[in-house]
Amino acid sequence: MRYPRPLPVAAAALLAAGLGQPLRAQAPATVSAAPSARIKIDVDRTIGTVDPLLFGNFSEHLGRMIYGGIYDEKNPLSDANGYRKDVMEAVKGLNVSILRWPGGNFASGYNWKDGIGPKDQRPVRPELAWHDIETNRFGTDEFLRYAELIETEPYICVNLGLGSIADARDWVEYTNSAQHTYWADQRRKNGRDQPWKVKYWALGNEIDGPWQLGHKDAEEYAKFALEAAKAMRAVDPTIKLVASGSSNYGADWIAWNRTVLQTLRNTADYIAIHTYINNNPPPGDLERYLGQWQLTVDRYIETTAGLIKQVQTGGNARPIYVAYDEWNVWYRTGERERLEEVYNFEDALAMGMFFNSFFRHADVVKMANLAQMVNVIAPIMTNEKGLFLQPTYFPLAEYAKQRGNTALNAFVASPTYRVQGGRGQATGPEIKYLDVSATYNRDARQIFLNVLNRSRDKSIETTIDNQEGTLGEQVSVWEMNHPDLKATHTFGDDRKVRPVTRTATVPRGQRFTYTFPAHSLTILQLSLR
Ligand code: AHR
Repeated sequence: MRYPRPLPVAAAALLAAGLGQPLRAQAPATVSAAPSARIKIDVDRTIGTVDPLLFGNFSEHLGRMIYGGIYDEKNPLSDANGYRKDVMEAVKGLNVSILRWPGGNFASGYNWKDGIGPKDQRPVRPELAWHDIETNRFGTDEFLRYAELIETEPYICVNLGLGSIADARDWVEYTNSAQHTYWADQRRKNGRDQPWKVKYWALGNEIDGPWQLGHKDAEEYAKFALEAAKAMRAVDPTIKLVASGSSNYGADWIAWNRTVLQTLRNTADYIAIHTYINNNPPPGDLERYLGQWQLTVDRYIETTAGLIKQVQTGGNARPIYVAYDEWNVWYRTGERERLEEVYNFEDALAMGMFFNSFFRHADVVKMANLAQMVNVIAPIMTNEKGLFLQPTYFPLAEYAKQRGNTALNAFVASPTYRVQGGRGQATGPEIKYLDVSATYNRDARQIFLNVLNRSRDKSIETTIDNQEGTLGEQVSVWEMNHPDLKATHTFGDDRKVRPVTRTATVPRGQRFTYTFPAHSLTILQLSLR
């Protein structure tokens, strides 16, 4: 474990002053050896807007995500349209800004035309990606209606695996056209007169993965996606398009992204990144888990951002952003368990790690979708009688309050560590115990400081230094912590791992100290006078 250089005595005096205590002028004789850190915030040092689309989610036809999750036609808890009312309430609590559908891997074998019209006449098909049966009772109109009800932006992934360009084009006509043409009139016949106006479309899913139906190499995919985009935009030129970036990190993922970006540089608005993290034993260690994955997520973003720059050579190049449109913890369950992952407290901390990274790259990451929303690697779990909220639910709901803020480039001096290697030896780069992001709501003059303390056992006393303006005395504190890193929830028992909130009083002025407890996620809300 490494700590920063000893502090000058005056700074140490500041650190010794606890939260809510006036700062002491007198210097103690010796500098405390306890871990200490410093965070400097400056509302003029901005990164970019925290795009509201960073708080997206994903709903795939997989296991009990749709059927038995958000949609359960025969359940008394559902409304007349089959939507589970209790689930909808829980979903609304997440404040989902954009919802991706229908897959994932499912999308690459899906024929959207099977899922429209009278439900009893829709064909039942074998589902090839997850080896299931697709009844098609939940289709385009059911999805778009659901998105309207939860007030979220719909985001459709077209089938560029086994599907055709004509099918992708027709889908845009069905949802978006105001003219009297065949597919737009089919929509009217199915009860929706006004266009659904679906703005966000993905050009396929994980087409680089050999597991994908209709897997292609980079050149093949890029050409196919370019033609699909041309046909889709011919119907609606206003749509935003997300190119399928690489998700096969065992292969040459950088080469895939470079080819796709080069070919689609004048067409795509986003390139997709997918990442699922794990805390696999051995050693199954918190500090390794939250540290190494943060470096990995940062690297995926920064490498892709570099590739974007590489293809944007012209003066008025089209902006392209990263859509992190699948991210989560996923390692305990597979297809057999229908991906019904039970999350624990340390996974809730990982939600903070992801968001901190997205916020620190707010200039380039402009969309993110947790995979997924209900039952399948999800924060909400249902059975026929009700639901429970997983520990991961709470940070997702809380971070979503920062949508539209400006991300700040906070300076962080923190004790560091290195991950243990094979024979118990420290290896790899230095990792800061404190993983930090900051955002600013200019209208409300509120600063949000998001701090993940990754240390297994050390609280870290931190000087928080504000550069512009005077801090108010009241600080709102939101904190998630639990003595058992592996604590989980279940039906009838989902109150153990929940956040606590309180208001703390700090000295009015430029700085104060705050102690971030071991293995905790804290959001401090500061007001500027
Ligand atoms: O979210 C589960 C699966 O993970 C998705 O279907 C696929 O895109 C990814 O590999």
